[in-house]
Amino acid sequence: MKKFVCSNCGYSSPKWFGRCPQCGEYDSAEEAILEKKGREAHASLLLNLEEASSLSLERLSTGFSELDRVLRGGLVPGQVLLLSGEPGIGKSTLALQVCEKFAEKGTVVYVSGEESPQQIKMRADRLKLKNKENILLSTENDLDAVLTETSEKKPRFLVIDSLQTVFSSELGSSPGSVSQVKAVTMKVINFSKKRMIPAMIVGHVTKEGEIAGPKMVEHMVDTVTYFEGDRRTGLRILKVVKNRFGPSDEVAVFELEENGFKQVESPSFVEEGVELPGNVVTCVFEGTKPFVVQVQALVSKNRVFAPKRVGKGIDTSRIMLLVAVLSKVVKIPLEHHDIYVNVVGGLRITDPAADLAIALAIVSSYLELPMPGVAALGEIGLDGKVRKVYNIKRRLGALKGFKKIIVPALEAESEEESVIAVQDLREAVKILGGDFSVSTRVDREDKVDIPWDRPEEGVG
Ligand code: TYD
Ligand code: MG
Repeated sequence: MKKFVCSNCGYSSPKWFGRCPQCGEYDSAEEAILEKKGREAHASLLLNLEEASSLSLERLSTGFSELDRVLRGGLVPGQVLLLSGEPGIGKSTLALQVCEKFAEKGTVVYVSGEESPQQIKMRADRLKLKNKENILLSTENDLDAVLTETSEKKPRFLVIDSLQTVFSSELGSSPGSVSQVKAVTMKVINFSKKRMIPAMIVGHVTKEGEIAGPKMVEHMVDTVTYFEGDRRTGLRILKVVKNRFGPSDEVAVFELEENGFKQVESPSFVEEGVELPGNVVTCVFEGTKPFVVQVQALVSKNRVFAPKRVGKGIDTSRIMLLVAVLSKVVKIPLEHHDIYVNVVGGLRITDPAADLAIALAIVSSYLELPMPGVAALGEIGLDGKVRKVYNIKRRLGALKGFKKIIVPALEAESEEESVIAVQDLREAVKILGGDFSVSTRVDREDKVDIPWDRPEEGVG
């Protein structure tokens, strides 16, 4: 790309000019040499849109097509990615596997502030890494020293594991302090941008989800990812919460096996036991991909203490809202019950399309009424109406095979017999056999020994 700059006034243009349109000087156009993307090389700090669009972003594969997908094609040279997660979730393992990919074609530097070379070597052996000679390891905690040496090695990729265990000796404060965490991040960013190599910074978050450190640098890095999951299942979810080079809210799923992570292209968050009361399946969109998930609810009587509403993988405020609608509109008296809602597999869902499934799972647990083969889609309004959801066709496609798929009425143009349209939550509950008329209640009370509260107001 060429750029011409007026030697008199500094005006710049991608086209040559005989007379400067800004100062009127003749023959002042000088060609400026531009590096591909280096900012310092630009004669002006401002780019016009035409120039900007010609700076295409090269993408470097991480070795996992699913990870590349959520990063919109891979890592960009100079991109700094923060990988946050609880201790033991697999951050170092994933980072090392990405190193292996970059090490195919050159040097990679892996800085570990918390593990010994022996520990890292053991992990590398377990992962059966083939390009070990290209992975340079540093267990030095002084980042300034490491970066000086790293610079000479001209690496293709840099990993800092972790943000809280390396420090800059230029600062007096101790590793992990606010000023250190910020300084370390800034140094890695400068290093990475100057040399146009991608870098990954690993950050620990505490169990309570309160992020000691990484949260403070999220605004500085290009890409923020959270690595989470249900340790029991081995499924791990990588969520992109911020990305300067692509969309956020994308999710990639991995499975931790004996020899490291394998990506899971079509994950199933449906477990055995889905046919038991309290379980309903739904399909949520995480970014551009649909995920089939099982929602689990447990409703248990509690007359003594203030009732609890606890959510795992789902906001408590959302549960409270749905419970309020269930009480008010469907007349299910839940005020003396503890309610626990869990999203199977460790996915954290925000898609409102899961509302109907959550509400039905609560009803199913409350009535001890199993809903096998039932899936539900729909956002629930405060009035109990089931509202439409976007991308219904793809969701229905993902839910193929379910016997009854409850969907919002306006979406009901499906030919499939299994797709059942409902106007509101009350209708959905009724279709699934949870009729709250007095006679049914008595019948049920006779047959099964499940106590439930009679509503104060008459229902019918
Ligand atoms: P690790 O990457 O050390 O977690 P973090 O850096 O987030 O603290 O991974 C910890 C767990 O991963 C540990 O319990 C062992 C397990 N693991 C496997 O199951 N398979 C493997 O191949 C490796 C290397 C680790
Ligand atoms: Mg680690």
